[in-house]
Amino acid sequence: MEPILVAKDVEKIYKNLAGEEFYALNHVSMEIGRKSLTILRGRSGSGKTTMLNMMSALDLPDKGVITCEGTQINVTDESIREQFRRTTIGYVFQAVALIPIMNAYENVEFSLRLAGYQGDYKERIEECLTKVGLRDRMYHMPYEMSGGEQQRVAIARAIAHKPKLIFADEPTAELDTQTALQVIKVFKELIEKEDVSIIMTTHDAGLFDVGDVCYEMEDGQIVGKHDTV
Ligand SMILES: Nc1ncnc2c1ncn2[C@@H]1O[C@H](COP(=O)(O)OP(=O)(O)OP(=O)(O)O)[C@@H](O)[C@H]1O
Ligand SMILES: [Mg+2]
Repeated sequence: MEPILVAKDVEKIYKNLAGEEFYALNHVSMEIGRKSLTILRGRSGSGKTTMLNMMSALDLPDKGVITCEGTQINVTDESIREQFRRTTIGYVFQAVALIPIMNAYENVEFSLRLAGYQGDYKERIEECLTKVGLRDRMYHMPYEMSGGEQQRVAIARAIAHKPKLIFADEPTAELDTQTALQVIKVFKELIEKEDVSIIMTTHDAGLFDVGDVCYEMEDGQIVGKHDTV
């Protein structure tokens, strides 16, 4: 099956404190399979977030080509990238950024409005919160939920507008391994039932093997690729 996203020879150069240029990404190539969970691992500063930002069209590489279903996404026209981000992508971040004065339902509803979702809001919101196991927490405020539950609301929010790709940067960093594994379980169910591909970064050695593929990064390069299935 054709991969959903292909990154080829991606380079990103930054300047360090001394003003010297260095490769945050150095000829990085990656293929993201359909309906798969891809893990990006590597030490702090190895380039994981930088690569995620390139693949999700948040930032532009200096060189290389990134395509999603054959369409190039690393284009300078910001409005094209914004459109791609809004419609095709969902984001989950390390620090769960739920809106504190909105309950779980309203948080998901808010993101549907931002995405300009066409469809029945109530039905979709309830469906997404049920999928992440929060059917009976739908009207809880963030402060009434555990860290793992809040992260699951964030996941419901990321999938609500039916993106093809979900990018999750250290989504489990603030969770213990047991709770992190529950989040992974939710990811896998979503891949099955929502037809999405998920790319996540992690430091947690307990999670390196939970995906379909694990890329290992070091100093801006890919130094290993393990298929775990
Ligand atoms: N906007 C920027 N300007 C300059 N340097 C940057 C910028 N963003 C990242 N870097 C540098 O690029 C390198 C890669 O950073 P990146 O955030 O991708 O690492 P990471 O693997 O995600 O690390 P962590 O595990 O700590 O999140 C680091 O040396 C970082 O300091
Ligand atoms: Mg990072």
